[in-house]
Amino acid sequence: MENVNWSDLSFGYMKTDYNVRCCYRNGKWGELEVSSSEIINIHMAATCLHYGQEAFEGLKAFRGKDGKIRVFRMDENAKRMQSSSRGIMMAELPVEIFEEAVRKVVKLNERFIPPYESGSSLYIRPLLIGTGAQVGVKPADEYLFVVFVTPVGPYFKGGFKTSPVCIMRNYDRAAPHGTGTIKVGGNYAASMVAGDKARKGGYAAVLYLDPKEKKYIDECGPANFFGIRGNSYITPASLSILPSITNMSLIQIAQDMGLTVERRPVPIEELSTFDEAAECGTAAVIAPISQIDDLDENKSYVYSKEGNPGPICERLYNKLRGIQYGDEPDVHGWVRIIE
Ligand code: PLP
Ligand code: COI
Repeated sequence: MENVNWSDLSFGYMKTDYNVRCCYRNGKWGELEVSSSEIINIHMAATCLHYGQEAFEGLKAFRGKDGKIRVFRMDENAKRMQSSSRGIMMAELPVEIFEEAVRKVVKLNERFIPPYESGSSLYIRPLLIGTGAQVGVKPADEYLFVVFVTPVGPYFKGGFKTSPVCIMRNYDRAAPHGTGTIKVGGNYAASMVAGDKARKGGYAAVLYLDPKEKKYIDECGPANFFGIRGNSYITPASLSILPSITNMSLIQIAQDMGLTVERRPVPIEELSTFDEAAECGTAAVIAPISQIDDLDENKSYVYSKEGNPGPICERLYNKLRGIQYGDEPDVHGWVRIIE
């Protein structure tokens, strides 16, 4: 493609050629349809517009040095979207249709997959919405699944560089036993005020505490959290965080590298004991944290002064990216090649 500076992409929307859609009607899923329109036409009483029947996913396709296209762990995204659907009573899309849609949309938009050297990738955004009309608070009887793609660079400015995050106790993104463990739009709507406040204060994201007791670390706006202490990879277990596929993969990679993994409630006080801290997710990849400012307690936890990631974050990052781009062997069978 001409006129695209692939190394300079930010994390934003760029129009591509096609998207793929599938409708649920009369109790069953229809055929996959290819569309070149960016527009969806829906009923004004659709449940997604009123009562938040909406779930989405995020995954990526990578162009390897060998020219091959690799998609990372799409079966996990398919299963998580089913879990989100159960959580807000939407029709569950079979894993096979999800995977077929991803393969199709990536292949059809092949010319938008950034070249290996750029370090950019193709972001894949599946979404599922209730399109059937209701006025009472009830699940829709019709659903629309859409997948579009857009080439992206790093989610946080500067790529693999550290950035600061902040703690603010007056905001929660989701409740335990609510929707925190699923990927529904409402959680992101609920995070916007705090996110905006954080960015205006010069922070990359909010680091949320557990909503019930405000004693433990939960996760960041768009990513999970982990800390490194000595030889340990420590990441929160919580009823109000999204089970991140990146974090699940890093846990395995950390174990493969001989680190000890601890997945458990992480009290705030422990922040002062970490050698390194980072956010992780599909969009964020690994976004190392320079410092965490606790704005209510007027306290700072500093991990890096020069903007450089710590050595363990760097090793984890290189290994994960290596597997995704095909530079490292895919020993766990995480990668699917799109032919
Ligand atoms: N936590 C939240 C709230 C997210 O939105 C995301 C992004 O998907 C993640 C964590 C990271 O999840 P994953 O690694 O599956 O992308
Ligand atoms: C992702 O990492 O895929 C996300 O969904 C994060 C954010 C863009 C919502």
